[in-house]
Amino acid sequence: MRFDVVTLFPELFAPLLTSGITRRAYESGQVDVRLVNPRDFADGNYRRVDDRPFGGGPGMVMMAEPLAQCLDSIQAQRSEIAPVVLFSPVGKPLDHADVMRWSDSAGAILICGRYEGVDQRLVDTRVTEQISLGDFVLSGGEIAAMALLDAVARLQPGVLNAAESHEQDSFNPTLDGLLDCPHYTRPETWAGLGVPDVLLSGHHAQIERWRREQRLAITLRQRPDLIQAARMQGRLSAADEAVLTRLLNERQVGDHRSSG
Ligand SMILES: C[S@@+](CC[C@H](N)C(=O)[O-])C[C@H]1O[C@@H](n2cnc3c(N)ncnc32)[C@H](O)[C@@H]1O
Repeated sequence: MRFDVVTLFPELFAPLLTSGITRRAYESGQVDVRLVNPRDFADGNYRRVDDRPFGGGPGMVMMAEPLAQCLDSIQAQRSEIAPVVLFSPVGKPLDHADVMRWSDSAGAILICGRYEGVDQRLVDTRVTEQISLGDFVLSGGEIAAMALLDAVARLQPGVLNAAESHEQDSFNPTLDGLLDCPHYTRPETWAGLGVPDVLLSGHHAQIERWRREQRLAITLRQRPDLIQAARMQGRLSAADEAVLTRLLNERQVGDHRSSG
């Protein structure tokens, strides 16, 4: 798959593309990342890409024309018409289902906004999808683009070692979309704190049962919406429901004690 990243700061991507286990995906071309600077498509000695907002107000706005020329140049080099993504706080928040969809795709053109954002006429005529990283504001879309690229790269076959399989991670359908369980490593005692006995038992069935209960407990506490989604999809067994009922009863007893 190919991602063309439109950015005024291509140098920000060097550490992402050359570090860690996911660099395999970039170096092999499994995830072919190309960086394009819209300034190279701007006119004049100053190669200006931004201007003041009509109507007044603070900051600058990225001009439509250099971005349009940049997109035309990229589309002309691609064999198929690529989706055009703009990273923006007004976009749909990125989730695991989106990442899975992009990781199975032929890629996209990713526009990283800067300043107050991009001239709306470019958005209306050229952008096919807007993606947000969350309910906060970044200085630019580059970190959002890197988040998407990293999440996509680690899903590519052969990129992670088996032991680090993404199928064991939070949100993965293999584990019914639940959050991950806690992890521990050596030493067995650290700062006076031990490790749950079951993890030292070598009893695989009990360890798996403990991990499932932990996933259910953490998800119930932090993201009850994911429990409900798993239930609606028929992913929770009778044993899971029994664990959830016990956890809810324990919580009610705890609430009762603290209010009494
Ligand atoms: C300072 S922000 C512009 C914020 C914009 N004026 C607003 O209030 O929605 C500059 C650029 O950073 C990127 N950006 C900021 N926050 C983001 C977020 N939560 N998700 C994705 N991209 C974001 C966008 O590309 C945006 O054009």
